[in-house]
Amino acid sequence: MKTPITVSVTGAAGQIGYALLFRIASGAMFGPDQPVNLRLIEIEPAMGALEGVIMELDDCAFPLLNEVVATSDLNVGFSGANWALLVGSVPRKAGMERADLLKINGGIFTGQGKAIAENAADDIRVVVVGNPCNTNALIAMNSAAGVPNDRFFAMTRLDENRAKSQLAAKANVHNSDITNMCIWGNHSATQYPDFTNAKIKGQPVTDFIKDQEWLEGEFISTVQQRGAAIIKARGASSAASAANGLVDTVRALTTPTPAGDWTSICVCSDGSYGIDAGLIASMPIFVKEDGSWDVVPGVEVDAFSREKIDASVQELRDEKAAVADLLA
Ligand code: NAD
Ligand code: LMR
Repeated sequence: MKTPITVSVTGAAGQIGYALLFRIASGAMFGPDQPVNLRLIEIEPAMGALEGVIMELDDCAFPLLNEVVATSDLNVGFSGANWALLVGSVPRKAGMERADLLKINGGIFTGQGKAIAENAADDIRVVVVGNPCNTNALIAMNSAAGVPNDRFFAMTRLDENRAKSQLAAKANVHNSDITNMCIWGNHSATQYPDFTNAKIKGQPVTDFIKDQEWLEGEFISTVQQRGAAIIKARGASSAASAANGLVDTVRALTTPTPAGDWTSICVCSDGSYGIDAGLIASMPIFVKEDGSWDVVPGVEVDAFSREKIDASVQELRDEKAAVADLLA
């Protein structure tokens, strides 16, 4: 057996937490031979509910679950953490855009970034799910003095999975036939699911889907608005699929990317593809054998894609300006 790794999860008693913790503890996130210590972070009013979740974790008798700590103290919660999964924050309700959450949730991530810098392990990696996740990750990154920027991520894997599922249904193929699906920009209604570079069975999407109007219209808007459609239908924001997206994100970051393919993750831009350096934006990422990652070079950006990417990057700039007071 390997040495246990320590995984800190904020918002552990929330909806996503409830769908996530059992998958971490079962080995779905880090593999069947990797024991885990869970550090579960919640605000005081939710500590009672968190105790119930821990009772359920106990009742699973997971072979890989080594230790569980429940706390509302960030210093305890991030102590020794190898991974920090920042889920905790208020979800949006029907009629709100994710940007409406900026002022409500942004402040949470300054304290968490600072506590991560002061308490986590040297190899800490941070994935932000709580919305608006790109700008929350930006705030955490800027608050975590001494932690390299390339350790901070925000989640667009759920959007990538949604896009693959839409393309597969339209082309009447299996999800696994879709590769090279990149989400560009913000995890918001401006995100750009890039069908121009996606492949179906290794061929351009347009070999299978002749309906260009659908690709440029309904496909994009369905992916952009999927979160809102789920809130409308369920009366609550996506949870199981979000937790699954986070399992996929961490697996993608800990497994070499298959040759020729890529994965969508929001990372700190180095200025590639005309995305301002320092913004946390989604782009195509390739994870190497040694576990480090790079932005995939040379992805073609045509005029249609350029316009869509620019619109989403502009939104990220605006979000950054709106939280300027939270950026150290
Ligand atoms: P939820 O309300 O069910 O749970 C959130 C939990 O966070 C609650 O238990 C709450 O007590 C806790 N919390 C609030 N402030 C906290 C703090 N400062 N520290 C620690 N915990 C805190 O919400 P949910 O459905 O689990 O969603 C969580 C977040 O994830 C929301 O912001 C939602 O919009 C976002 N989300 C993101 C994606 C994505 O793809 N990036 C997908 C789905 C949901
Ligand atoms: C989603 O994409 O499902 C989440 O970001 C929740 C939301 O507010 O849309």
